[in-house]
Amino acid sequence: MNSPKASPTLVINEKVNAMWASGQDIIHLGFGESRFPVHSVLACTFQENSMQRSYLPSLGIPELRETIANYYSDKLGLTFDGSQVIVGVGSKSLLYAMIQSIDGDLLLSKPSWVSYSSIATLTGRSVHRFELDADQDYQINIQTLDSVYQEAIESGRNPKILILNSPSNPVGNISSEEELKSVAQWAKEKDIYILSDEIYSLVTHDGFTHHTIAEYYPEKTIIFGGLSKHLSLGGWRFGMAIVPKGDEGKSLIQSFQSIAGSIWSCVPGPIQYTAILAYSGNRNIDDYIKTCTKIHGIRTHYIHGKLSSMELTSPKPRGAFYIYPSFKKWSIKLGEMGITTCEELSTYLLDHYSIATLPGSAFGDDTNNLCLRLSTSFLDMETDDQAQKILDAYSEENDPKLFMEKHHPRTSLFLEKMRKFIAEINE
Ligand SMILES: Cc1ncc(COP(=O)(O)O)c(C=O)c1O
Repeated sequence: MNSPKASPTLVINEKVNAMWASGQDIIHLGFGESRFPVHSVLACTFQENSMQRSYLPSLGIPELRETIANYYSDKLGLTFDGSQVIVGVGSKSLLYAMIQSIDGDLLLSKPSWVSYSSIATLTGRSVHRFELDADQDYQINIQTLDSVYQEAIESGRNPKILILNSPSNPVGNISSEEELKSVAQWAKEKDIYILSDEIYSLVTHDGFTHHTIAEYYPEKTIIFGGLSKHLSLGGWRFGMAIVPKGDEGKSLIQSFQSIAGSIWSCVPGPIQYTAILAYSGNRNIDDYIKTCTKIHGIRTHYIHGKLSSMELTSPKPRGAFYIYPSFKKWSIKLGEMGITTCEELSTYLLDHYSIATLPGSAFGDDTNNLCLRLSTSFLDMETDDQAQKILDAYSEENDPKLFMEKHHPRTSLFLEKMRKFIAEINE
């Protein structure tokens, strides 16, 4: 059977929930769930549409597809039409269906989000990993990519799909325009499909702009997005994809229709009708997205700054809500403490400091890079009440430093524990 392992992100979340339920005080940085409340207008619209109980088109209702096309045409500065848009039960279902629909193996960076390789396993595709170098700010090096591609060809494989993810999980950086242009040119020469996971495209931090590779390679780029991150609606399971124009897109849509029709039929009615509003460009909702994004940015940059001052360095966060530090420079001292892999490092932090993280190896990274992925999204927003309090506090106190110091006790506790851990390493 092609059974991938259970998703490490969901596993750590369930583990932390069980530890919380048993009374343990765990600081949760293991799960990338955006925690802001459901926007009240969306909540009302969802209630009003609860009577929508019929099966709907697998591709999505036409009004929704058209609305999404307009929304992303505006956000990305490109021209899409509704016939290019498909919707799914979270973007995971769309990634699965698109990989299944394209004949070929996968080129995947290390590190990259946990689910790409498990979806590849499900679809029986081989994965060829190319390294992103921390010293090159985790940007793609075309020579490295090309040599992994050549090796795959020489070993008889058929690499045809390259997955990109910007803003990135786990690194929290953004692809530069130069990087996108050079990857587009390389992919065009090799006739490779790009699956461009842009689910964090609206969660970019001050001064950083999201660009899509579809600007440079529209012929074979499929863009993925959804409501999970910028509107904190992960549990609503709504994703969308935009396929290329013309025959290429049509055949992907045909294949998607039969996969969706065979497995999940359609995205639930109340969600589809509410998603129309979410993508309508409604002023209140767009302002809410900007506020939540701003808060993610303040929190993530604050923690990044504090960790850097402890000499725990990591790439500057540019989007999403992740920090990806490496403890490699302490590898000898950690070795003396019995910690030689990033899994052991993550376990040590959980067992000795009650801090939940994910090891870089969950993202395909080499274990001896001693990287951890820290998600800032749960800190001080563990419950719905706390999440609402953070939102309220920001509306009264938007000086970032005071906002953090006055309203983030668990973040302070986390930083205090990290200080102690680093002192222990340096002992
Ligand atoms: C890079 C990336 N893509 C996709 C997803 C999943 O999105 P969805 O909730 O739309 O399935 C996540 C969730 O963590 C993610 O980090």
